[in-house]
Amino acid sequence: MIVELVRVSLADKASLREWRNDPAVSKWMYTNHEIGEEEHNAWFEAMLADESRVYWKIVADGIAVGAVFLTDVSNQGSSCEWGMYLADVNARGKGIAQAACALSFRYAFKVLAVDVVKCEAVVENENAIGLYESVGYVRTGLQTDAVKRDNEMLSVVTLELTRDSWNMSEANVLQKLSEKGVNING
Ligand SMILES: CC(C)(COP(=O)(O)OP(=O)(O)OC[C@H]1O[C@@H](n2cnc3c(N)ncnc32)[C@H](O)[C@@H]1OP(=O)(O)O)[C@@H](O)C(=O)NCCC(=O)NCCS
Repeated sequence: MIVELVRVSLADKASLREWRNDPAVSKWMYTNHEIGEEEHNAWFEAMLADESRVYWKIVADGIAVGAVFLTDVSNQGSSCEWGMYLADVNARGKGIAQAACALSFRYAFKVLAVDVVKCEAVVENENAIGLYESVGYVRTGLQTDAVKRDNEMLSVVTLELTRDSWNMSEANVLQKLSEKGVNING
């Protein structure tokens, strides 16, 4: 299987809303209401125009199966936030997410030249935290009841990946991908 990242363009507007509204994705997000067309369009246009945000679709053997993104890319280039989801549940558990991690980290560290990439996950999201740790992310904290979603409070794990940790994990991640039959393009 070949996994590549393709920058999101206007043509992806509808898919992004569909993916983000899928309960298998939205259940792990800090807001999980159904995103209407108007709300999505405003967000999408702002996202495309914002140079501090980089959104890609994750394409596996030619099929777009999810998204990975960098946000808060600072002008000084020292750090950025990072996130991802696979909308197609059939695409999960195959190494596609790990491949998207590798490709997006290369971009962050080599092209944007950031020193550290940060992310967060709801504490119960064991699959996401397991994935993040498998590619070199290290936990930096636990924020109890940090996010209010409807009537519940979500606790959040914060993680970060430094350039040095990625340099140390990259070969190991590429080895795992090769064992899973996943090739990355980029
Ligand atoms: C999080 C998500 C992207 C993971 O995708 P995936 O297809 O399972 O990931 P991959 O198959 O590429 O990689 C999985 C790695 O994580 C590890 N992993 C997965 N679930 C795990 C778990 N519950 N505990 C420990 N490790 C786990 C796997 O063992 C594997 O690592 P390995 O190769 O070292 O064994 C996917 O489940 C998803 O999109 N979830 C919904 C949206 C979401 O939660 N996004 C993140 C919000 S913070």
